[in-house]
Amino acid sequence: MTLPLERLVYESAATGTTESVLNLAVILAESQRNNDQRGLTGALAAHRERYVQVIEGPVAALDSLLRRLTDDPRHRHIRVLDRRAIAERQFEGWSMASPRFNPQMSEALDRLMAEPDPSGGLIVRLLREALDADRTLAA
Ligand SMILES: Cc1cc2nc3c(=O)[nH]c(=O)nc-3n(C[C@H](O)[C@H](O)[C@H](O)COP(=O)(O)O)c2cc1C
Repeated sequence: MTLPLERLVYESAATGTTESVLNLAVILAESQRNNDQRGLTGALAAHRERYVQVIEGPVAALDSLLRRLTDDPRHRHIRVLDRRAIAERQFEGWSMASPRFNPQMSEALDRLMAEPDPSGGLIVRLLREALDADRTLAA
């Protein structure tokens, strides 16, 4: 039997600079190692001093990650934008993707995050599109 899946979307304020490739690389390496073991998948955007992350997986694994994230001094003001049950993953095979954003996608994310209540579904779609565009470029 497979465990029920949930998807969490949040944003937070980076305490260090999100422009640092090294900061992001360290976060991604830890995330990928842990998530792989815990059945979590997702995508992380570091954008204008803020993190936007989508995480998918079993409920208990999501709860435990959210607690660790809340205690992590590399960011603060975590705001959960959406949490819901899902039938399937959007980031299957990605223990934590970090797609590059082209200028249009970057603008779209800016517009979305400027809204008072950014839509989790639209964030997922944007991250998924950026990931697909990245893979097309790399192919
Ligand atoms: C923006 C951001 C995103 C993160 N995403 C994840 C994640 O997806 N999975 C994860 O295990 N840790 C993630 N972390 C790190 C956790 O906050 C925590 O430091 C880590 O899970 C602790 O791992 P450890 O118990 O192996 O030391 C993230 C941290 C930040 C700042």
